Amino acid sequence: MSGAYDAALYALVHRGTEGDEAFYAKLATGKRVLELGAGYGRLLPALTDNASRYVGIEHDPGMLAAAERARLALPVEQRERAALVRADMRDFALQEEFDRILIPHSGLWCLGGATEVARCLDRVLAHLAEGGLLILDTYHADPFHEHSLPEDVPDDREELVAEVEHAGTRYQVFERSSWDRDAQRMVVTYRYAPDAEGEAEVREGVIVHSYLLCDELATVMVNAGLESLRFAGDFAGTPLDDDDDFMVVVAAR
Ligand SMILES: C[S@@+](CC[C@H](N)C(=O)[O-])C[C@H]1O[C@@H](n2cnc3c(N)ncnc32)[C@H](O)[C@@H]1O
Repeated sequence: MSGAYDAALYALVHRGTEGDEAFYAKLATGKRVLELGAGYGRLLPALTDNASRYVGIEHDPGMLAAAERARLALPVEQRERAALVRADMRDFALQEEFDRILIPHSGLWCLGGATEVARCLDRVLAHLAEGGLLILDTYHADPFHEHSLPEDVPDDREELVAEVEHAGTRYQVFERSSWDRDAQRMVVTYRYAPDAEGEAEVREGVIVHSYLLCDELATVMVNAGLESLRFAGDFAGTPLDDDDDFMVVVAAR
């Protein structure tokens, strides 16, 4: 998150999509798994429980430290199957290949647009074993990009999305979004407002997403050498519908 979001505050609010842990854990069974954008290690216990090998790449030091704590909390045998690497998922080289390369929870949109996604996919192809799969999930941007108007997403509209406790203080967490439709860019700010009067200050975390439309993503994937693409609207594999606000993409050479 490039220092724009404290990892501990992030972890309290961003808990993934229902069903994602079981979905990825099943795909990891007996496989060599690479997770790109491992975050605070949310999926690490489930993935390392099933995988024969797990490597997580993460560029944010705070996130990486949290993921390392999650790794160290595992039983020794499970912990030793796992490694965490501080690297940029658009520019990394490991001396091993993987059967499953995962980009969970909209990690692909963190990269900065089509050119940066292409750089990441080049690295994916370089590390994907014969018969291996790239699997990712993210929100499906097409419906809101096509049907919403900029005034539908006013910069000053805030929504209460969570109530959390951190370092002895309760916070209400408010989300507000700033959308640049032409740039396909969404900046989402989370404001952590302390519940009661006291020492605690208001904290903020920012997530910046550059999303691609489905056709754009498919083009970048095919150009990267991923010929076999499946777009689903849920973790059960139901084919993606135009109106779905979520998607799972499975790709192979
Ligand atoms: C949406 S989070 C997903 C975290 C985790 N996979 C999960 O499902 O909880 C995306 C993660 O990717 C990391 N990230 C973003 N850009 C990255 C990059 N260029 N290289 C490595 N990690 C990156 C962010 O710091 C963040 O932790």
